[in-house]
Amino acid sequence: MTSTHGTVVVVGSMNMDIVVKASRFPASGETLFGQEVHFEPGGKGGNQAVACAKLGHETFMLGAVGGDAFGGSLMKSLETNGVNAEHMKKTGSAATGIASITLTPEDNTILVVPGANGTLTAEDVNAWSEVISKGSILLVQLEIPMEAVAAAVDIAYRQGIPVILNPAPASEIPADVLGKIRYITPNQTELHTLTGVDPESEGLEKAMDALLAKGPEAVIATLGSQGAAWKTRGGTLQRSASRRVEVVDTTGAGDAFNGGLACSLSRNRGLEESVRFAIAVSALAVTKFGAQGGMPVLKEVERLLNEGE
Ligand code: RIB
Repeated sequence: MTSTHGTVVVVGSMNMDIVVKASRFPASGETLFGQEVHFEPGGKGGNQAVACAKLGHETFMLGAVGGDAFGGSLMKSLETNGVNAEHMKKTGSAATGIASITLTPEDNTILVVPGANGTLTAEDVNAWSEVISKGSILLVQLEIPMEAVAAAVDIAYRQGIPVILNPAPASEIPADVLGKIRYITPNQTELHTLTGVDPESEGLEKAMDALLAKGPEAVIATLGSQGAAWKTRGGTLQRSASRRVEVVDTTGAGDAFNGGLACSLSRNRGLEESVRFAIAVSALAVTKFGAQGGMPVLKEVERLLNEGE
């Protein structure tokens, strides 16, 4: 690790992903046989932290697990991937969060039961203030209670630490929180939910402008197979294409993108370079099975970037 690599602090969720592979999604009311079941460490927070640690950055994960076997496995995954997990909350009052994932050759669906993630309070987060202050950048998502997100954002904001908010899954975000965010990274569905403007029918830029008007300094919209688009307040719309890869599992693709973006920005790189880097991290992540298991190391990302578009 060199001093040019910034420290990333992630405040967010930890889930055990229960992944069932099936040839297709069951119809409503239908019972279908799946082919395989896998128990994979996940959760948007945990995935983003593992992505950053595997890219060689000092990374702190701040979240909650239950005192059960899933919690133990998730902690082990953080530790073996090089994430600093020593400040994690272990609660006896709720089970570790789980995500029930159906994976078909075309797509996936995810149903999350927050469990321990839902026990995180503003008080818990305030007790982490010193750890959050160590970060060059703070990365948060919306799989934990909004009061915990708001407390983390406020601590970072008061210290001038840039915040990336990955608004997933989309829910209403208080104006006060949006005003303290430097970067927000919605996909198209989240962009629609957050602004009421449908990027597909009413225009991507219109939706991004509507989000910029709510406070963040930059909107970086992830567009799946079409790459990403970004716009800063007062800037023009920019786009970066996706990379062509053989897709095995898209679970955690957005987390890989956010982790890559955080790492690159924490090294003081500009948005254009950082978005390109994030796209490469995400492209490599989908070529492997499992959210955390699929996160690439820096050398793989550099190799892909050196191959050109
Ligand atoms: O972003 C992917 C993640 O969403 C999965 O790992 C699952 O746990 C859900 O949180």
